[in-house]
Parts: sequence; structure tokens; C-alpha cells
Amino acid sequence: MKKKITAPKVYSMKNKEKITMITSYDCPTTKIVESAGVDIILVGDSVGMVMLGYPTTLEVTVDDIVHHAKAVSRCSEYALKVGDMPFMSYQASVEEAVKNAGRIIQQGGMDAVKLEGGENHIDKVKAIINAGIPVMGHVGLTPQSVNLFGGFKIQGKTVESAKQILKDAKLLDETGVFALVLEGIPEELAKIITESVSCPTIGIGAGRYCDGQVLVFHDMLSIPEPCYFKFVKQFENAGEIMRKGVENYVKAVKEHKFPEQNNVTHLSDEILQALKNRGELRCI
Ligand code: KIV
Repeated sequence: MKKKITAPKVYSMKNKEKITMITSYDCPTTKIVESAGVDIILVGDSVGMVMLGYPTTLEVTVDDIVHHAKAVSRCSEYALKVGDMPFMSYQASVEEAVKNAGRIIQQGGMDAVKLEGGENHIDKVKAIINAGIPVMGHVGLTPQSVNLFGGFKIQGKTVESAKQILKDAKLLDETGVFALVLEGIPEELAKIITESVSCPTIGIGAGRYCDGQVLVFHDMLSIPEPCYFKFVKQFENAGEIMRKGVENYVKAVKEHKFPEQNNVTHLSDEILQALKNRGELRCI
């Protein structure tokens, strides 16, 4: 069996080996992504949009993350498990941030937490790390600030914005995050950040030069249908495969072709005869 991946192990992978991270919110997905060899499983707040049908991640609660994290942790053996800190679980105070990070570790069974923001939340990152919990940072197009950005828009395209993201990244690195997600920023900025910090960067929509990549499981496999974001590559059309399977099932039942002989259990002749003799199965 593969050795359990820890936060220090991920930190040490920079400049040695590309890091792979993918989202999972349930047991079967966890088993699939682990057997495919992924390094980090993220129980992301994207669960709100992907699994729960919300328009943004803002509706997701700590209870939601803990619920899905529990399912993932029961079925994970070696990947590093990171739980997202949802909107308003850390923004209001350092105390709430530490308490909620603790819940995600203690109740959800995660190994580490991830939270969005830089300079504005350094005090919370520091306190969570001081409580003994590894933290993954997340800067750039941070979806919990979608209303501030006026939509899901690429960040870091002006000098001012690029400088702030670089500053955020450096501050998080100095504070001790073990890895840093760079989301929705130009490739050149992601390269500068990657070369400026000692922790590994993990990109999503941040180009080719990050130390690792992360994608949402359902986006890269086209579940339920293809995702046309520029930064997503369709690695398989699993949604179509699943739909075909269910269509085949519906057709087979309608046409009396399922269940088949080998899908059913039979009574032995002896038992059948006994039941008939006792008149208990008049209809047979
Ligand atoms: O919630 C999530 O899935 C994420 C990734 C997109 C990085 O934060």
C-alpha cells in the first residue's frame, strides 16, 4: 500500500514532483481518485455548486463540509485530505476560525484545512497553524469574494491587483501555509509567485508553471455534462457514459429484458413443492 501523504510531504514535493489535487465529496469518488493515484483530496466548498445545486459557494456551511468530509475520510487511505473552510466560518474572528477549523479536523476527519484570502486573514491563518492544524492558502479568483469581484472574473490583470496577489502569497508563505492554491490568474503572475514562495503552488486556471494542479472532479469528467471553462480539460466524458448506462437500464426494464435469468434467485423444487402442498402459494 502507498505511504500516507502528509502536509510536510506535500511541502517537500516542490521542485521535485508535480502535485495532483482533485475534489471529492463522497465515498465512491474518494475510492476512484485514490486508486488513480491522486496526492491530495479536497473536500471543497465547490460541493455547494457541484453537488447541492447552489449558484455560488456562499451558501455552504461548516455542517455541509463536515458531512461530506466524514464520507471522504471513511473511505480514504493515503491521500492528504483537505477540508475547505466555507464562507463566514473564519472571516468574522480568529476565535471562530480556530473553532471551525477544529471541527473540520476533529469531526470531519480531515488532515488540513484550506481558506481563501491573504493579508486580510493572516491573523486567522496564524492562529489555526498555532492550534496545530496545517493550512493551505488560496489566492487570486477566490470564489467566496464573487460579489466583491462582480462575478467569477480572472484576477491579477492590473499592476495593482497583481502586486496585491503577490503580496498575499508571500505573506501566507511566511506565515507557514504548507501549500497555496492559485486560482484564476494569468500564467505569468502564477510563475512569478511560484518562484517567489518556498511552499508549493497548486494552480487552477493559473497556467503551466505552478508546482501542482487542482481540478473539480465533475468538471474534468464532464459530469453531468461538458464544462466549457477555458481552464478545464475534459479528461473523460463520464456524464455521457453514465447517461448511456441509465438509458440502457430504462429501456431494458420497459422491454421486459431486465431482470434476466441470472439476476434472479429461485426457490428449490423441494421448498416450492412444500409450499404448494400446504396451499400457501395458491397462485403458483
Ligand atoms: O472548492 C473548491 O473546489 C476549490 C478548488 C476549485 C480549488 O476551492
